[in-house]
Amino acid sequence: MTERRFLITGGLGFIGAWTLYHLARQGERAVCFDVGANSGRLDMLLPKDQQSSIQFVQGDITSKAQVDAALENVTHIIHLGALQVPSCKANPILGSAVNVTGTINLFEAARERGIQHIAYASSIAVYGRADEYPYELLPDDAPRIPHTLYGAYKICNEETARVYFEDHGITSTGLRPFTVYGVGRDQGLTSEPTKAMLAAAKGEHYSIPFGGKMQFQWGSDVARQFIQAALQPLDGAFVFNFNTVPVEVAEVADIIMRIVPEIRIDVATNKLPFPTGFTGDGIVRHFSEVFETPLEEGIRQTIAHFRTASAV
Ligand SMILES: NC(=O)c1ccc[n+]([C@@H]2O[C@H](COP(=O)([O-])OP(=O)(O)OC[C@H]3O[C@@H](n4cnc5c(N)ncnc54)[C@H](O)[C@@H]3O)[C@@H](O)[C@H]2O)c1
Repeated sequence: MTERRFLITGGLGFIGAWTLYHLARQGERAVCFDVGANSGRLDMLLPKDQQSSIQFVQGDITSKAQVDAALENVTHIIHLGALQVPSCKANPILGSAVNVTGTINLFEAARERGIQHIAYASSIAVYGRADEYPYELLPDDAPRIPHTLYGAYKICNEETARVYFEDHGITSTGLRPFTVYGVGRDQGLTSEPTKAMLAAAKGEHYSIPFGGKMQFQWGSDVARQFIQAALQPLDGAFVFNFNTVPVEVAEVADIIMRIVPEIRIDVATNKLPFPTGFTGDGIVRHFSEVFETPLEEGIRQTIAHFRTASAV
């Protein structure tokens, strides 16, 4: 039997690092494919001497040839490499090259090599503003009305996946995270709650510039769900939201202050224009395991991790 080998695109990013961390701990072999070379996030989670099961390939997903080479002996794919909202807005052509063409390069290279399944990251950015829906919690099939190019590109990824199933029978599972927090989350607007946890670990006060209710997912859980999605192909091209219970940002601040009573976390009153959350139970229905660490426990572990000398 062929030995399992996972390709993680964007492996040096936040969720990618958590994915490599869990794969290494589970004794799996992985290829980390990333255009960057800074392994700082991964090193915070997994000491270098525990990274021997990971092959590092510095490569650009916009190059079909480089993607193809990285797929040598790969059996499972988790596609996380992407440019985020501000980068796509600042440079739409590069954004589409990485997020759209890059994804097509991967599907095409997988097809050519006979790899039958891909797990990949979409985003709740495919949806519109909260005030565009008649309900507070959205079902998985709520209309997608993106207001960013990033969201538009993610829809293109979802449709690409659907057509690759129709045309070639390649199955796929897309997951749409909301606000993911944890060690390694250091960029993007919704990284603010994690930055508050880092400040608390350093004994500093912090102000989160938005409030309101949203869904929080711990990077560790999201990574494990991606691994599950790669290991357990479903018969079709599926995309799922996480249905963790929406929580007020102020509640996150309260949890942080309970863990570190000597610091103060302020929370602004304005709400981000995203829907509050999602009801879809697709993940629960389709997967044998669903990873959902209670919020307080995830925050506690994040602060404890940030407190270690290597992270602060
Ligand atoms: N973090 C979140 O809250 C969140 C929410 C929704 C969706 N997502 C999606 O999950 C995935 C992972 O998110 P993240 O938070 O880890 O992002 P991240 O920005 O931390 O990591 C993305 C990685 O992709 C790499 N990359 C960029 N361009 C590349 C290219 N041309 N070739 C190869 N690699 C390239 C970057 O170097 C980076 O290491 C992304 O697709 C993102 O859109 C994340």
